[in-house]
Amino acid sequence: MEKDFTQLDAIIAKYQGKPEMLIPLLQETQHLLGYLGKETMRYLAQKTGIPAAEIYGVATFYSHFSLEPKGKHIIKVCDGTACHVRGSSKIIDALRKELALEGKQITTDDRLFTLEIVSCLGACGLAPVLVIDEHVHGQISPEAAQKLIAAIAKEEESNA
Ligand code: FES
Repeated sequence: MEKDFTQLDAIIAKYQGKPEMLIPLLQETQHLLGYLGKETMRYLAQKTGIPAAEIYGVATFYSHFSLEPKGKHIIKVCDGTACHVRGSSKIIDALRKELALEGKQITTDDRLFTLEIVSCLGACGLAPVLVIDEHVHGQISPEAAQKLIAAIAKEEESNA
């Protein structure tokens, strides 16, 4: 089925003829659709005349852009210096295991969770820090992190 890009057309119209505004165009597009999928980028290229390779290049260069749909719950684990020395990599490993994420996968197959690694959450005094859907969890252990995820998954299951 053809995707309905009506709202996207309005955004494109705003930036039409301004190839130097590619980043704001991509930001607004991601804000609207949640991520920049291949089909979307092809559509943008076709409508704006900006080469698809250029759009793809910008979208992959900036970590702010997401090329895959994100999960319902966003987990951000800090791996900045303060958190790293306090064992953030063990938390990351434990969460990847809990979420059954493989290779470069960051979103679970059921699209419930996306795991992002960030460089500082501005709460170094609470290291190691983890944020789930804007809730900050400080001095977290790998086991406690797994429990938090399991509790959300259970709640989602009972709401399903
Ligand atoms: S290094 Fe983790 S919150 Fe700053």
